[in-house]
Amino acid sequence: MKVKYPPINPKCAHFLHGADYNPDQWKATPDVWDEDMRLMKLAHCNAMSVGIFSWASLEPEEGRFEFSWLDTIMDKLAENGAYAVLATPSGARPAWLAEKYPEVLRVGADRVRILFGARHNHCYTSPVYREKTRLINQKLAQRYKEHPALLVWHVSNEYGGECHCELCQEAFREWLKKKYDGDLDKLNHAWWTAFWSHTYTDWSQIQSPAPHGERSIHGLNLDWKRFVTHQTIEFFKNEIAPLKEITPDVPVTTNFMGLYPGLNYWKFAREVDVVSWDNYPTWHGREADWELAFKIGFVHDINRSLKGGKPFMLMESTPSMTNWQQVAKLKRPGMHLLSSIQAVAHGSDTVQYFQWRKSRGCSEKFHGAVVDHCGHENTRVFRDVAEVGKVLEKLDPVVGSTVRPDVAIIYDWENYWAIEDAQGPRREKKNYQLTCQMHYRPFWKNGVPVDVIDMDCDFSGYKLLIAPMLYMVRPGVAERIEKFVETGGTFVTTYWSGIVDENDLCFLGGFPGPLRRVTGVWSEEIDALYDHDINHVVVKDAGSLGLKNEYEARELCDLIHAETARVLAIYKSDFYAGRPALTVNIFGKGMAYYIAFRNNDDFLDDFYGRLINELNLKRVVDAQLPEGVTAQLRTDGEQNFIFLLNFVPEARTVDLGSKAYEDMLNHERVTGCITLEGYGVRILQESLS
Ligand code: GLA
Ligand code: ZN
Repeated sequence: MKVKYPPINPKCAHFLHGADYNPDQWKATPDVWDEDMRLMKLAHCNAMSVGIFSWASLEPEEGRFEFSWLDTIMDKLAENGAYAVLATPSGARPAWLAEKYPEVLRVGADRVRILFGARHNHCYTSPVYREKTRLINQKLAQRYKEHPALLVWHVSNEYGGECHCELCQEAFREWLKKKYDGDLDKLNHAWWTAFWSHTYTDWSQIQSPAPHGERSIHGLNLDWKRFVTHQTIEFFKNEIAPLKEITPDVPVTTNFMGLYPGLNYWKFAREVDVVSWDNYPTWHGREADWELAFKIGFVHDINRSLKGGKPFMLMESTPSMTNWQQVAKLKRPGMHLLSSIQAVAHGSDTVQYFQWRKSRGCSEKFHGAVVDHCGHENTRVFRDVAEVGKVLEKLDPVVGSTVRPDVAIIYDWENYWAIEDAQGPRREKKNYQLTCQMHYRPFWKNGVPVDVIDMDCDFSGYKLLIAPMLYMVRPGVAERIEKFVETGGTFVTTYWSGIVDENDLCFLGGFPGPLRRVTGVWSEEIDALYDHDINHVVVKDAGSLGLKNEYEARELCDLIHAETARVLAIYKSDFYAGRPALTVNIFGKGMAYYIAFRNNDDFLDDFYGRLINELNLKRVVDAQLPEGVTAQLRTDGEQNFIFLLNFVPEARTVDLGSKAYEDMLNHERVTGCITLEGYGVRILQESLS
């Protein structure tokens, strides 16, 4: 497989390293700007995200634009061999705009319009806000279209939230009319509104969900969330229209927020040229760092999968601490390089931070930054950042490389929305997200790359497809899963799958609905256990399956009947003792496993450990990795780039066997046993020719 993506912008074929940069806060002391440039070079930074919240400096009065300060910054960046990830400023608005046009201010679900203040709180429908953003974006694009520093458009900032104003209500109704072909009966059926006599007789009666109004129609809740994604994307399209017209070769992105539930990033990703995201893990916190690391690895893998393997950007991370977490613990020595390289290992072509220089006042004055209030480079954090920069400079060949995993896990936003809305079988610890991450963990531990996709993605390139808690099954999905298995794929699903359709209407005729044929089981009931309840699962023929004799079953136990499936394990106690707990169904050339119980721990490790061997899934290195260490791969088909990452504070040894690699940082030849320092990183290159 030869795949190499072009650099994010061919102007710069290196890793981007830099930070959110707010020179407009220092306009009164422009000598700070010169100092920024000196420090930037010392920190080995080459890309600054400029002007994210600069609207008031760019347009201090309606229609009066001031670009001179930004001209100076752009010129200085170019003179110093650096680039601008140039922002459009819609994430926060000037006071004059809110004062003159109150419609730009968001209305909450409680129908109260906010006052001017804070940020990320505009109406996505307001024609005035769209016009104003379009205009300023057009001015920016015209002004800097030829500028050598312009590299990437950073559109707005962390789009999120929703607006319930009258303009948005009307747009929602229009969106619904289109979706339901102008047929209110269709909508009433899809939303099952005969329930509690909520049938609509006119479109005008439809309102977005509200705490003091409608909350009980799951179809409405789902469609509202879909609409919020749609409307946010429409707003984004309006923002990028002038950028695309004036600077068609400059890629656009907007910074996503990982597993942020409010937007379906699969829909959004289609509209950006390059995916980027902001990552703020709570290292050294309540759970072991490696337990957090695989969860973060999972999110990085989503961001790579969002564009089919195309490298993404780590748009924000903190060089030291945040100012908003419960406890803002400093990164321990080694963690900054390790967590930065973790992003690279999973497919990022950048390491960027929030923020370059600590602001002097306001709410983020204590948020970690490359340059602290002391103002100089003689700090631990600055040295850590410079070290990352130096490492990235040695990784040019990695730019544009990717990975083509054998395994995919489905993590689907709409499925998440529907699960969260469901009142049953438990209200607490439904844990869809965590469950998907727990199914990911064994692969991370074994150094087996994984794509994290949604249910609309193409399954055909994978050997193993895992769909934990696939509660919602949208039209066509079950058919595509059947085809995947029929042609030789291995499919794994779990309890609480195949329950509702795309409108959150239950499948009739027996769960798991459209997955019943492929799994060969019928789920009759599901039992929810209290935290102090433990059942057990007994594996038949454990030895030949490579499993232990017994595992715990907690929280959710699906009471299934094997129809065409073979029973591999049964429940040990309670009234369903002896009933199937794990089954496999041979279907065409492949097979489908159904895990009826939640264990989320040693069972998944053993079960997938066995599948990795049986299906001969590609491992990054042919080695047993110690706990806390993962191996991730990027390749261009000619060279493999292997990232060994140690997320425990103690040194660990990995036996690479007889294969020889080159260490990309010191160019030494490595083979056999190698040591990773506590929180250590090794980046190895392997020639495939
Ligand atoms: C977000 C925002 C940034 C900054 C950081 C702080 O990611 O995009 O502007 O507020 O949080 O962690
Ligand atoms: Zn609105």
